[in-house]
Amino acid sequence: MGDLFSARWRMRIDKMLANLGFGSRKEVKKILKDGAVRVNGQIVKDAKQQVDPENDVVTLNGETVEYKEFIYLMMNKPPGVVSATEDHQDETVIDLLEIEDLVFDPFPVGRLDKDTEGLLLITNDGQLAHRLLSPKKHVPKTYFAVIDGEVTERDIEAFKNGVTLDDGYKTKPGELKILKSGLTSDIELTITEGKFHQVKRMFQAVGKRVIYLKRISMGPLKLDETLELGEYRELTDEELQKLKEYQSQ
Ligand code: URA
Repeated sequence: MGDLFSARWRMRIDKMLANLGFGSRKEVKKILKDGAVRVNGQIVKDAKQQVDPENDVVTLNGETVEYKEFIYLMMNKPPGVVSATEDHQDETVIDLLEIEDLVFDPFPVGRLDKDTEGLLLITNDGQLAHRLLSPKKHVPKTYFAVIDGEVTERDIEAFKNGVTLDDGYKTKPGELKILKSGLTSDIELTITEGKFHQVKRMFQAVGKRVIYLKRISMGPLKLDETLELGEYRELTDEELQKLKEYQSQ
């Protein structure tokens, strides 16, 4: 990231390499002893050597090592996996990550139902996640859904005024757009809350059933439609900057 979010700081070379997943502290000490690591061109064997991870050039066997503290991933969540870090029964979104991303210990920001697809942010930046999930923040989330039955102008009005869910909770206004109406309807719904099964329960409140659900945006983040189901990528610098600006407002 740019200077806006980074400050100069130093850490031990063994800690830096271990954090990046190059081995345990003990294994990293051995790599250092073998003379495989250079800092700004000089071989460093001392595990206690302090480095500036963002400005020093660290190489391992001649390959430059990029340091980062946080990881920010956008996944196109597939159906059938749960948005959790661990589960006794089901595969989780974290199980889909590569080892080089797993070493950052990331977690999903919020939940999508097991059968819901689409945009899921996965990070180890607890502060950013906390701010995005705060109910006070009212982060808009847009879903594409296929509904069993004909969605009408009355539903648009009902969602605009807020609907009452099965537990008596009255939702905040939702913005419903009808893309196609018929025996089944295609819609987009933007909501600013994240109650359990909210989209499904909002349609239930107007007597309709969601048969397919996919999240397409969250705050300033839009699902990269080139990601296949189950694929993920790091956020671009621009996406991350927008997200950080957004959550700090
Ligand atoms: N609303 C739902 O009903 N399910 C989701 O996964 C997300 C929003």
